Amino acid sequence: MTMVEYRNEPFTDFKQEHNRQAMLAALESVRARLGRTYPLRINGRKIMTDRSIVSVNPGRVKQIVGYVAQADAHLANQAIAAADAAFRDWQHVAPEVRAGYLFKAAALIRRRKFEFSAWLVYEVGKNWAEADADVAEAIDFLEFYGREMIRLAQPQPLTPLPGEDNRLTYIPLGVGVVIPPWNFPLAIMAGMTCAALVAGNTVVLKPASASPVIAAQFVELMEEAGLPAGVLNFVPGSGGEIGDLLVDHPRTRFVSFTGSRDVGLRINERIARPAAGQIWIKRLIAEMGGKDGIVVDSSADPAEAADAIVASAFGFQGQKCSAGSRAIIHQDLYEEVLRHIVEKTKQLTVGLPEENHPIGPVIDESAYNKIREYMDIGAGEGHLVAGGDIAEGDGYYLQPTVIADVLPNARIMQEEIFGPVLAVCKADDFKQSVDIFNNTEYGLTGSVFSRNREHLEYARRHMHCGNLYFNRKCTGALVGVHPFGGFNMSGTDSKAGGRDYLLLFTQAKLVSEKW
Ligand code: NAD
Ligand code: ALA
Repeated sequence: MTMVEYRNEPFTDFKQEHNRQAMLAALESVRARLGRTYPLRINGRKIMTDRSIVSVNPGRVKQIVGYVAQADAHLANQAIAAADAAFRDWQHVAPEVRAGYLFKAAALIRRRKFEFSAWLVYEVGKNWAEADADVAEAIDFLEFYGREMIRLAQPQPLTPLPGEDNRLTYIPLGVGVVIPPWNFPLAIMAGMTCAALVAGNTVVLKPASASPVIAAQFVELMEEAGLPAGVLNFVPGSGGEIGDLLVDHPRTRFVSFTGSRDVGLRINERIARPAAGQIWIKRLIAEMGGKDGIVVDSSADPAEAADAIVASAFGFQGQKCSAGSRAIIHQDLYEEVLRHIVEKTKQLTVGLPEENHPIGPVIDESAYNKIREYMDIGAGEGHLVAGGDIAEGDGYYLQPTVIADVLPNARIMQEEIFGPVLAVCKADDFKQSVDIFNNTEYGLTGSVFSRNREHLEYARRHMHCGNLYFNRKCTGALVGVHPFGGFNMSGTDSKAGGRDYLLLFTQAKLVSEKW
Protein backbone atom coordinates (compact mmCIF):
# COMPACT_ATOMS: atom_id res chain seq x y z
CA MET A 1 0.00 0.00 0.00
CA THR A 2 1.41 3.44 -0.87
CA MET A 3 0.50 6.28 1.44
CA VAL A 4 1.34 9.92 1.66
CA GLU A 5 3.61 10.76 4.54
CA TYR A 6 1.79 11.69 7.74
CA ARG A 7 1.39 15.43 8.30
CA ASN A 8 -0.73 17.28 10.87
CA GLU A 9 -4.13 18.48 9.75
CA PRO A 10 -3.89 22.27 9.31
CA PHE A 11 -5.90 24.51 11.62
CA THR A 12 -8.64 26.67 10.12
CA ASP A 13 -7.92 30.37 9.82
CA PHE A 14 -11.18 31.98 10.90
CA LYS A 15 -9.91 35.42 9.90
CA GLN A 16 -10.55 34.34 6.31
CA GLU A 17 -14.07 35.34 5.45
CA HIS A 18 -14.96 32.08 3.66
CA ASN A 19 -14.00 30.07 6.78
CA ARG A 20 -15.95 32.39 9.05
CA GLN A 21 -19.00 32.02 6.81
CA ALA A 22 -18.60 28.24 6.69
CA MET A 23 -18.50 28.10 10.49
CA LEU A 24 -21.58 30.32 10.82
CA ALA A 25 -23.42 28.08 8.36
CA ALA A 26 -22.36 24.96 10.28
CA LEU A 27 -23.53 26.47 13.58
CA GLU A 28 -26.89 27.23 12.02
CA SER A 29 -27.24 23.81 10.47
CA VAL A 30 -26.28 22.02 13.72
CA ARG A 31 -28.59 24.29 15.74
CA ALA A 32 -31.47 22.98 13.64
CA ARG A 33 -30.50 19.43 14.64
CA LEU A 34 -30.20 19.98 18.39
CA GLY A 35 -32.46 17.99 20.68
CA ARG A 36 -32.44 14.73 18.74
CA THR A 37 -32.23 11.30 20.34
CA TYR A 38 -29.31 8.91 19.83
CA PRO A 39 -29.32 5.14 20.41
CA LEU A 40 -26.82 2.78 21.99
CA ARG A 41 -25.04 0.50 19.55
CA ILE A 42 -24.45 -3.13 20.41
CA ASN A 43 -23.38 -5.62 17.76
CA GLY A 44 -24.55 -3.20 15.08
CA ARG A 45 -28.03 -2.92 16.59
CA LYS A 46 -29.38 0.50 17.53
CA ILE A 47 -31.05 0.28 20.90
CA MET A 48 -33.24 2.92 22.53
CA THR A 49 -33.76 2.87 26.28
CA ASP A 50 -36.38 4.29 28.64
CA ARG A 51 -33.82 6.44 30.37
CA SER A 52 -31.53 8.84 28.56
CA ILE A 53 -28.59 11.12 29.26
CA VAL A 54 -29.56 14.72 28.56
CA SER A 55 -26.72 16.69 27.01
CA VAL A 56 -27.03 20.40 27.73
CA ASN A 57 -25.23 23.37 26.17
CA PRO A 58 -23.11 24.71 29.06
CA GLY A 59 -23.21 28.18 27.52
CA ARG A 60 -27.01 28.33 27.25
CA VAL A 61 -28.33 25.89 29.80
CA LYS A 62 -31.89 25.78 28.54
CA GLN A 63 -30.69 24.49 25.18
CA ILE A 64 -30.64 20.70 24.91
CA VAL A 65 -27.99 19.36 22.58
CA GLY A 66 -29.42 15.86 22.51
CA TYR A 67 -30.75 12.86 24.38
CA VAL A 68 -28.61 9.75 24.40
CA ALA A 69 -29.84 6.29 25.35
CA GLN A 70 -28.42 5.12 28.66
CA ALA A 71 -27.13 1.60 29.21
CA ASP A 72 -27.89 -0.36 32.37
CA ALA A 73 -25.97 -3.35 33.69
CA HIS A 74 -27.82 -5.77 31.41
CA LEU A 75 -26.94 -3.80 28.25
CA ALA A 76 -23.36 -3.25 29.41
CA ASN A 77 -22.99 -7.03 29.75
CA GLN A 78 -24.47 -7.48 26.27
CA ALA A 79 -21.93 -5.01 24.87
CA ILE A 80 -19.02 -6.97 26.35
CA ALA A 81 -20.45 -10.21 24.97
CA ALA A 82 -20.82 -8.63 21.50
CA ALA A 83 -17.25 -7.31 21.54
CA ASP A 84 -15.99 -10.68 22.73
CA ALA A 85 -17.75 -12.49 19.89
CA ALA A 86 -16.58 -9.97 17.27
CA PHE A 87 -12.98 -10.34 18.43
CA ARG A 88 -12.84 -13.89 17.03
CA ASP A 89 -12.80 -12.52 13.45
CA TRP A 90 -11.58 -8.94 13.88
CA GLN A 91 -8.25 -10.03 15.37
CA HIS A 92 -7.47 -11.81 12.06
CA VAL A 93 -8.43 -8.95 9.75
CA ALA A 94 -5.25 -7.74 8.03
CA PRO A 95 -3.69 -4.69 9.72
CA GLU A 96 -3.79 -2.75 6.43
CA VAL A 97 -7.51 -3.38 6.16
CA ARG A 98 -8.07 -2.28 9.77
CA ALA A 99 -6.00 0.86 9.06
CA GLY A 100 -8.17 1.49 6.00
CA TYR A 101 -11.22 2.05 8.23
CA LEU A 102 -9.32 4.77 10.10
CA PHE A 103 -8.23 6.49 6.88
CA LYS A 104 -11.81 6.42 5.61
CA ALA A 105 -13.09 7.83 8.90
CA ALA A 106 -10.47 10.60 8.75
CA ALA A 107 -11.64 11.51 5.27
CA LEU A 108 -15.28 11.57 6.39
CA ILE A 109 -14.49 13.85 9.36
CA ARG A 110 -12.37 16.12 7.15
CA ARG A 111 -15.36 16.61 4.83
CA ARG A 112 -17.53 17.58 7.80
CA LYS A 113 -14.92 19.55 9.73
CA PHE A 114 -16.99 22.67 10.36
CA GLU A 115 -19.98 20.59 11.34
CA PHE A 116 -18.01 18.61 13.94
CA SER A 117 -16.56 21.88 15.27
CA ALA A 118 -20.08 23.26 15.61
CA TRP A 119 -21.17 20.22 17.66
CA LEU A 120 -18.20 20.85 19.98
CA VAL A 121 -19.19 24.50 20.36
CA TYR A 122 -22.70 23.49 21.45
CA GLU A 123 -21.95 20.42 23.52
CA VAL A 124 -18.90 21.45 25.59
CA GLY A 125 -18.60 25.21 25.06
CA LYS A 126 -15.40 25.38 22.99
CA ASN A 127 -14.73 28.55 21.04
CA TRP A 128 -14.14 28.12 17.31
CA ALA A 129 -10.36 27.71 17.38
CA GLU A 130 -10.49 25.25 20.29
CA ALA A 131 -13.20 23.25 18.54
CA ASP A 132 -11.31 23.26 15.25
CA ALA A 133 -8.14 22.07 17.02
CA ASP A 134 -10.10 19.21 18.60
CA VAL A 135 -11.40 18.11 15.20
CA ALA A 136 -7.96 18.44 13.60
CA GLU A 137 -6.46 16.31 16.38
CA ALA A 138 -9.09 13.61 15.85
CA ILE A 139 -8.16 13.47 12.15
CA ASP A 140 -4.47 13.34 13.12
CA PHE A 141 -5.00 10.41 15.49
CA LEU A 142 -6.81 8.43 12.79
CA GLU A 143 -4.18 9.13 10.14
CA PHE A 144 -1.28 8.55 12.55
CA TYR A 145 -2.48 5.33 14.20
CA GLY A 146 -3.45 3.86 10.82
CA ARG A 147 0.12 4.34 9.59
CA GLU A 148 1.55 3.17 12.90
CA MET A 149 -0.32 -0.14 12.64
CA ILE A 150 1.00 -0.67 9.14
CA ARG A 151 4.52 0.00 10.43
CA LEU A 152 4.10 -2.43 13.33
CA ALA A 153 2.82 -5.12 10.97
CA GLN A 154 6.09 -5.06 8.98
CA PRO A 155 8.73 -7.73 9.71
CA GLN A 156 10.36 -6.78 13.01
CA PRO A 157 14.16 -6.80 13.29
CA LEU A 158 15.58 -9.79 15.23
CA THR A 159 19.14 -11.05 15.60
CA PRO A 160 19.68 -13.67 12.82
CA LEU A 161 20.39 -17.25 13.91
CA PRO A 162 21.52 -19.73 11.23
CA GLY A 163 19.08 -22.60 10.77
CA GLU A 164 16.07 -20.79 12.20
CA ASP A 165 13.32 -18.57 10.86
CA ASN A 166 12.29 -16.22 13.66
CA ARG A 167 9.37 -13.80 13.41
CA LEU A 168 7.86 -11.43 15.94
CA THR A 169 4.36 -10.09 15.43
CA TYR A 170 2.22 -7.73 17.47
CA ILE A 171 -1.12 -9.37 18.10
CA PRO A 172 -4.13 -7.76 19.79
CA LEU A 173 -5.23 -8.27 23.38
CA GLY A 174 -9.01 -8.78 23.20
CA VAL A 175 -11.95 -6.71 24.45
CA GLY A 176 -11.02 -3.19 25.50
CA VAL A 177 -13.17 -0.89 27.60
CA VAL A 178 -12.56 2.69 26.48
CA ILE A 179 -13.46 5.45 28.95
CA PRO A 180 -12.67 8.96 27.66
CA PRO A 181 -13.13 12.39 29.27
CA TRP A 182 -15.44 15.16 28.07
CA ASN A 183 -12.81 17.86 27.53
CA PHE A 184 -11.51 16.63 24.16
CA PRO A 185 -14.76 14.86 23.38
CA LEU A 186 -13.88 14.12 19.77
CA ALA A 187 -10.08 13.91 19.62
CA ILE A 188 -9.29 11.92 22.76
CA MET A 189 -12.39 9.73 22.47
CA ALA A 190 -11.67 8.91 18.81
CA GLY A 191 -7.93 8.49 19.41
CA MET A 192 -8.35 6.07 22.32
CA THR A 193 -11.03 4.08 20.49
CA CYS A 194 -9.27 3.83 17.15
CA ALA A 195 -5.86 2.96 18.60
CA ALA A 196 -7.49 -0.05 20.27
CA LEU A 197 -9.43 -1.01 17.11
CA VAL A 198 -6.62 -0.67 14.60
CA ALA A 199 -4.42 -2.90 16.77
CA GLY A 200 -7.05 -5.64 16.31
CA ASN A 201 -9.01 -5.34 19.54
CA THR A 202 -12.73 -4.87 19.84
CA VAL A 203 -14.13 -2.04 21.92
CA VAL A 204 -16.86 -1.17 24.36
CA LEU A 205 -16.93 2.64 24.41
CA LYS A 206 -18.48 4.39 27.38
CA PRO A 207 -18.39 8.12 26.61
CA ALA A 208 -18.30 10.86 29.24
CA SER A 209 -21.79 11.87 30.32
CA ALA A 210 -21.21 15.54 29.47
CA SER A 211 -20.36 14.82 25.83
CA PRO A 212 -22.29 11.77 24.62
CA VAL A 213 -23.73 13.40 21.48
CA ILE A 214 -20.38 14.01 19.81
CA ALA A 215 -19.41 10.42 20.68
CA ALA A 216 -22.67 9.13 19.18
CA GLN A 217 -21.92 11.06 15.97
CA PHE A 218 -18.46 9.53 15.82
CA VAL A 219 -19.75 5.98 16.31
CA GLU A 220 -22.26 6.57 13.52
CA LEU A 221 -19.41 7.78 11.31
CA MET A 222 -17.36 4.65 12.01
CA GLU A 223 -20.36 2.61 10.93
CA GLU A 224 -20.51 4.70 7.74
CA ALA A 225 -16.81 3.92 7.25
CA GLY A 226 -17.85 0.25 7.13
CA LEU A 227 -16.62 -1.07 10.48
CA PRO A 228 -18.14 -4.54 10.99
CA ALA A 229 -20.89 -5.05 13.59
CA GLY A 230 -19.74 -5.76 17.14
CA VAL A 231 -16.24 -4.34 16.67
CA LEU A 232 -17.21 -1.01 18.24
CA ASN A 233 -20.02 -1.05 20.79
CA PHE A 234 -21.38 2.17 22.27
CA VAL A 235 -22.79 2.20 25.79
CA PRO A 236 -23.29 5.65 27.30
CA GLY A 237 -24.08 5.43 30.98
CA SER A 238 -23.12 6.79 34.32
CA GLY A 239 -19.60 5.93 35.47
CA GLY A 240 -21.02 4.99 38.85
CA GLU A 241 -23.66 2.66 37.39
CA ILE A 242 -21.85 0.73 34.66
CA GLY A 243 -18.21 1.81 35.03
CA ASP A 244 -17.29 -0.78 37.65
CA LEU A 245 -19.15 -3.52 35.80
CA LEU A 246 -17.25 -2.90 32.56
CA VAL A 247 -13.92 -2.63 34.33
CA ASP A 248 -14.50 -5.73 36.50
CA HIS A 249 -15.90 -7.97 33.77
CA PRO A 250 -13.86 -11.18 33.35
CA ARG A 251 -13.88 -10.83 29.53
CA THR A 252 -12.46 -7.29 29.70
CA ARG A 253 -8.82 -7.65 28.67
CA PHE A 254 -7.77 -4.01 29.05
CA VAL A 255 -9.09 -0.61 30.06
CA SER A 256 -8.06 2.56 28.28
CA PHE A 257 -8.97 5.46 30.53
CA THR A 258 -8.45 9.21 30.34
CA GLY A 259 -9.85 11.31 33.15
CA SER A 260 -9.32 12.36 36.72
CA ARG A 261 -6.77 11.02 39.16
CA ASP A 262 -9.38 9.60 41.52
CA VAL A 263 -11.31 7.62 38.92
CA GLY A 264 -8.03 6.43 37.37
CA LEU A 265 -6.79 5.15 40.73
CA ARG A 266 -10.10 3.45 41.38
CA ILE A 267 -9.89 1.60 38.06
CA ASN A 268 -6.25 0.71 38.72
CA GLU A 269 -7.23 -0.89 42.02
CA ARG A 270 -10.20 -2.77 40.60
CA ILE A 271 -8.48 -4.28 37.59
CA ALA A 272 -5.78 -5.72 39.84
CA ARG A 273 -8.34 -8.15 41.34
CA PRO A 274 -9.07 -11.06 38.97
CA ALA A 275 -12.76 -11.84 38.49
CA ALA A 276 -14.00 -15.42 38.60
CA GLY A 277 -13.14 -17.08 35.30
CA GLN A 278 -10.65 -14.40 34.25
CA ILE A 279 -7.50 -15.90 32.72
CA TRP A 280 -5.30 -12.81 32.20
CA ILE A 281 -3.79 -9.87 34.01
CA LYS A 282 -5.80 -6.88 32.81
CA ARG A 283 -3.87 -4.00 31.38
CA LEU A 284 -4.56 -0.36 32.18
CA ILE A 285 -3.64 2.60 30.04
CA ALA A 286 -4.45 5.62 32.22
CA GLU A 287 -3.97 9.26 31.40
CA MET A 288 -4.94 11.43 34.32
CA GLY A 289 -4.83 14.94 35.71
CA GLY A 290 -2.22 17.67 35.80
CA LYS A 291 -1.01 20.64 37.80
CA ASP A 292 1.11 22.05 35.05
CA GLY A 293 3.19 25.16 35.21
CA ILE A 294 5.30 27.72 33.41
CA VAL A 295 8.67 28.77 34.79
CA VAL A 296 9.88 32.25 33.84
CA ASP A 297 13.60 32.86 34.16
CA SER A 298 15.19 36.30 34.66
CA SER A 299 16.44 36.25 31.05
CA ALA A 300 12.97 35.78 29.52
CA ASP A 301 11.01 38.27 27.44
CA PRO A 302 8.28 39.30 29.93
CA ALA A 303 5.52 40.02 27.39
CA GLU A 304 6.15 36.81 25.47
CA ALA A 305 6.11 34.76 28.68
CA ALA A 306 2.90 36.45 29.83
CA ASP A 307 1.22 35.70 26.48
CA ALA A 308 2.03 32.01 26.86
CA ILE A 309 0.96 31.95 30.52
CA VAL A 310 -2.43 33.47 29.71
CA ALA A 311 -2.97 31.16 26.72
CA SER A 312 -1.97 28.09 28.74
CA ALA A 313 -4.03 29.00 31.79
CA PHE A 314 -7.25 30.11 30.11
CA GLY A 315 -7.49 28.24 26.77
CA PHE A 316 -10.83 26.36 26.90
CA GLN A 317 -11.41 27.95 30.30
CA GLY A 318 -8.45 26.07 31.81
CA GLN A 319 -10.24 22.76 31.26
CA LYS A 320 -7.26 20.95 29.80
CA CYS A 321 -5.09 18.39 31.57
CA SER A 322 -2.22 20.39 30.07
CA ALA A 323 -3.46 23.76 31.37
CA GLY A 324 -0.72 25.94 32.85
CA SER A 325 -2.42 26.66 36.15
CA ARG A 326 0.81 27.74 37.90
CA ALA A 327 3.20 30.52 36.87
CA ILE A 328 6.53 30.47 38.70
CA ILE A 329 8.38 33.70 38.03
CA HIS A 330 11.91 34.85 38.90
CA GLN A 331 11.84 37.71 41.40
CA ASP A 332 13.67 40.07 38.99
CA LEU A 333 10.82 39.89 36.44
CA TYR A 334 7.96 39.12 38.79
CA GLU A 335 6.22 42.50 38.86
CA GLU A 336 6.59 43.09 35.13
CA VAL A 337 5.36 39.66 34.04
CA LEU A 338 2.48 39.84 36.53
CA ARG A 339 1.46 43.24 35.16
CA HIS A 340 1.36 41.82 31.61
CA ILE A 341 -0.60 38.76 32.79
CA VAL A 342 -3.21 40.92 34.50
CA GLU A 343 -3.55 43.26 31.51
CA LYS A 344 -3.94 40.39 29.06
CA THR A 345 -6.36 38.52 31.30
CA LYS A 346 -8.58 41.58 31.68
CA GLN A 347 -8.77 41.86 27.88
CA LEU A 348 -10.35 38.40 27.57
CA THR A 349 -14.07 38.63 26.99
CA VAL A 350 -16.37 35.99 28.43
CA GLY A 351 -19.44 34.86 26.53
CA LEU A 352 -21.29 32.48 24.26
CA PRO A 353 -19.04 30.01 22.42
CA GLU A 354 -21.17 30.44 19.30
CA GLU A 355 -20.09 34.09 19.28
CA ASN A 356 -16.49 32.93 19.59
CA HIS A 357 -15.40 34.71 22.76
CA PRO A 358 -11.96 33.77 24.04
CA ILE A 359 -13.55 32.50 27.28
CA GLY A 360 -16.72 30.42 27.32
CA PRO A 361 -18.55 28.52 30.04
CA VAL A 362 -17.19 25.71 32.21
CA ILE A 363 -18.74 22.34 31.59
CA ASP A 364 -21.47 22.00 34.22
CA GLU A 365 -22.89 23.14 37.52
CA SER A 366 -20.69 20.94 39.64
CA ALA A 367 -17.52 22.23 37.91
CA TYR A 368 -18.84 25.79 38.25
CA ASN A 369 -19.38 25.40 42.01
CA LYS A 370 -16.08 23.63 42.55
CA ILE A 371 -14.12 26.30 40.65
CA ARG A 372 -15.88 29.09 42.56
CA GLU A 373 -14.80 27.43 45.79
CA TYR A 374 -11.21 27.36 44.54
CA MET A 375 -11.45 31.07 43.67
CA ASP A 376 -12.35 31.74 47.30
CA ILE A 377 -9.65 29.41 48.60
CA GLY A 378 -7.15 31.13 46.31
CA ALA A 379 -8.19 34.61 47.42
CA GLY A 380 -7.29 33.50 50.94
CA GLU A 381 -3.96 32.04 49.85
CA GLY A 382 -2.70 35.03 47.83
CA HIS A 383 -3.81 38.32 46.28
CA LEU A 384 -6.67 38.34 43.84
CA VAL A 385 -5.44 40.51 40.96
CA ALA A 386 -7.93 39.63 38.20
CA GLY A 387 -11.36 38.03 38.01
CA GLY A 388 -12.52 36.06 41.02
CA ASP A 389 -16.23 36.15 40.30
CA ILE A 390 -18.96 34.74 38.13
CA ALA A 391 -19.54 36.28 34.71
CA GLU A 392 -22.82 37.19 33.02
CA GLY A 393 -24.68 34.81 30.78
CA ASP A 394 -27.24 32.07 30.70
CA GLY A 395 -24.64 29.40 31.43
CA TYR A 396 -21.73 28.41 33.63
CA TYR A 397 -19.62 31.51 33.06
CA LEU A 398 -16.71 32.48 35.30
CA GLN A 399 -14.19 35.27 35.02
CA PRO A 400 -10.61 34.25 34.23
CA THR A 401 -8.93 34.61 37.60
CA VAL A 402 -5.36 35.38 38.63
CA ILE A 403 -4.13 34.99 42.20
CA ALA A 404 -0.67 36.43 42.85
CA ASP A 405 1.91 35.91 45.61
CA VAL A 406 0.90 32.32 46.27
CA LEU A 407 3.23 30.06 48.22
CA PRO A 408 4.41 26.73 46.74
CA ASN A 409 2.39 24.55 49.14
CA ALA A 410 -0.87 26.46 48.79
CA ARG A 411 -3.83 24.34 47.72
CA ILE A 412 -4.22 26.26 44.46
CA MET A 413 -0.57 25.39 43.68
CA GLN A 414 -1.17 21.70 44.44
CA GLU A 415 -4.70 20.65 43.46
CA GLU A 416 -6.06 20.34 39.94
CA ILE A 417 -8.84 22.94 39.61
CA PHE A 418 -9.68 22.31 35.96
CA GLY A 419 -11.00 25.82 35.45
CA PRO A 420 -9.85 29.36 34.67
CA VAL A 421 -7.78 29.97 37.81
CA LEU A 422 -4.08 30.84 37.63
CA ALA A 423 -1.78 30.82 40.68
CA VAL A 424 1.31 33.01 40.44
CA CYS A 425 4.33 32.32 42.64
CA LYS A 426 7.62 34.19 43.06
CA ALA A 427 10.99 32.36 43.03
CA ASP A 428 14.36 33.59 44.32
CA ASP A 429 16.37 31.93 41.56
CA PHE A 430 16.06 29.51 38.66
CA LYS A 431 16.84 26.36 40.64
CA GLN A 432 14.22 27.23 43.18
CA SER A 433 11.70 27.75 40.32
CA VAL A 434 12.39 24.22 39.14
CA ASP A 435 11.97 22.85 42.68
CA ILE A 436 8.64 24.66 42.98
CA PHE A 437 7.58 23.30 39.59
CA ASN A 438 8.40 19.74 40.71
CA ASN A 439 6.62 20.18 44.03
CA THR A 440 3.39 18.43 42.96
CA GLU A 441 2.15 14.86 42.74
CA TYR A 442 1.41 15.34 39.05
CA GLY A 443 3.86 15.53 36.14
CA LEU A 444 2.12 16.19 32.85
CA THR A 445 3.24 19.38 31.10
CA GLY A 446 5.53 22.30 31.82
CA SER A 447 7.21 25.19 30.08
CA VAL A 448 10.29 27.28 30.64
CA PHE A 449 10.85 30.78 29.33
CA SER A 450 14.58 31.51 29.29
CA ARG A 451 17.34 32.69 27.00
CA ASN A 452 19.98 31.08 29.18
CA ARG A 453 21.21 27.83 27.60
CA GLU A 454 22.58 26.47 30.89
CA HIS A 455 19.24 27.00 32.54
CA LEU A 456 17.38 25.34 29.69
CA GLU A 457 19.70 22.32 29.94
CA TYR A 458 19.19 22.25 33.71
CA ALA A 459 15.42 22.26 33.12
CA ARG A 460 15.74 19.49 30.52
CA ARG A 461 17.34 17.27 33.17
CA HIS A 462 15.44 18.29 36.28
CA MET A 463 11.89 19.32 35.42
CA HIS A 464 9.92 16.12 35.94
CA CYS A 465 7.02 16.04 33.50
CA GLY A 466 6.05 14.04 30.43
CA ASN A 467 5.82 17.05 28.07
CA LEU A 468 8.28 19.87 28.67
CA TYR A 469 8.34 22.86 26.34
CA PHE A 470 10.89 25.64 26.03
CA ASN A 471 9.82 29.20 25.16
CA ARG A 472 6.25 28.27 24.20
CA LYS A 473 2.95 27.53 25.90
CA CYS A 474 2.41 24.20 27.69
CA THR A 475 -0.81 23.27 25.87
CA GLY A 476 -1.42 22.22 22.28
CA ALA A 477 0.62 19.05 21.77
CA LEU A 478 0.48 17.91 18.14
CA VAL A 479 -0.02 14.27 17.22
CA GLY A 480 3.23 12.71 16.01
CA VAL A 481 5.19 15.87 16.88
CA HIS A 482 4.71 15.96 20.66
CA PRO A 483 3.72 12.47 21.92
CA PHE A 484 1.61 13.21 24.98
CA GLY A 485 1.45 11.72 28.47
CA GLY A 486 2.60 12.35 32.01
CA PHE A 487 4.44 11.03 35.04
CA ASN A 488 3.42 10.23 38.60
CA MET A 489 -0.28 10.87 39.28
CA SER A 490 -0.69 12.14 35.72
CA GLY A 491 -0.86 8.56 34.55
CA THR A 492 1.01 5.75 32.88
CA ASP A 493 2.88 8.07 30.46
CA SER A 494 1.27 6.29 27.54
CA LYS A 495 2.35 8.93 25.04
CA ALA A 496 -0.75 9.28 22.88
CA GLY A 497 0.18 10.30 19.36
CA GLY A 498 3.61 8.70 19.63
CA ARG A 499 5.34 5.64 18.22
CA ASP A 500 5.05 3.65 21.48
CA TYR A 501 1.30 4.11 21.89
CA LEU A 502 -0.08 1.24 19.81
CA LEU A 503 2.22 -1.24 21.55
CA LEU A 504 0.09 -0.72 24.66
CA PHE A 505 -2.83 -2.32 22.81
CA THR A 506 -0.88 -5.35 21.62
CA GLN A 507 1.17 -8.28 22.86
CA ALA A 508 4.25 -9.49 21.01
CA LYS A 509 4.31 -13.09 19.77
CA LEU A 510 7.49 -14.81 18.66
CA VAL A 511 7.38 -17.83 16.37
CA SER A 512 10.63 -19.71 15.80
CA GLU A 513 10.90 -22.39 13.10
CA LYS A 514 13.91 -24.71 12.89
CA TRP A 515 14.92 -25.57 9.35
P1 NAD B 1 -13.61 11.89 35.18
O1 NAD B 1 -12.56 11.07 35.85
O2 NAD B 1 -14.69 12.45 36.02
O3 NAD B 1 -14.34 11.03 34.06
C1 NAD B 1 -13.60 10.39 33.04
C2 NAD B 1 -14.41 9.23 32.51
O4 NAD B 1 -14.53 8.25 33.55
C3 NAD B 1 -15.84 9.60 32.12
O5 NAD B 1 -16.19 8.89 30.95
C4 NAD B 1 -16.66 9.11 33.30
O6 NAD B 1 -17.99 8.79 32.97
C5 NAD B 1 -15.89 7.86 33.69
N1 NAD B 1 -16.11 7.37 35.03
C6 NAD B 1 -16.48 8.05 36.13
N2 NAD B 1 -16.57 7.22 37.19
C7 NAD B 1 -16.23 5.98 36.76
C8 NAD B 1 -16.10 4.70 37.37
N3 NAD B 1 -16.35 4.50 38.66
N4 NAD B 1 -15.72 3.65 36.60
C9 NAD B 1 -15.45 3.83 35.29
N5 NAD B 1 -15.56 5.00 34.66
C10 NAD B 1 -15.94 6.08 35.37
O7 NAD B 1 -12.85 13.03 34.35
P2 NAD B 1 -13.47 14.15 33.42
O8 NAD B 1 -14.11 15.18 34.28
O9 NAD B 1 -14.27 13.55 32.32
O10 NAD B 1 -12.17 14.76 32.74
C11 NAD B 1 -11.36 15.66 33.39
C12 NAD B 1 -10.12 14.98 33.91
O11 NAD B 1 -9.45 14.28 32.85
C13 NAD B 1 -9.10 15.97 34.46
O12 NAD B 1 -8.53 15.46 35.63
C14 NAD B 1 -8.06 16.03 33.33
O13 NAD B 1 -6.79 16.44 33.75
C15 NAD B 1 -8.08 14.63 32.84
N6 NAD B 1 -7.57 14.52 31.48
C16 NAD B 1 -6.34 13.97 31.29
C17 NAD B 1 -5.80 13.91 30.02
C18 NAD B 1 -4.43 13.32 29.79
O14 NAD B 1 -4.10 13.09 28.64
N7 NAD B 1 -3.65 13.08 30.81
C19 NAD B 1 -6.52 14.40 28.93
C20 NAD B 1 -7.79 14.93 29.15
C21 NAD B 1 -8.31 15.00 30.44
N1 ALA C 1 -3.03 17.18 24.21
C1 ALA C 1 -3.66 18.34 24.74
C2 ALA C 1 -2.69 19.47 24.91
O1 ALA C 1 -1.51 19.29 24.71
C3 ALA C 1 -4.33 18.03 26.03
O2 ALA C 1 -3.09 20.55 25.25
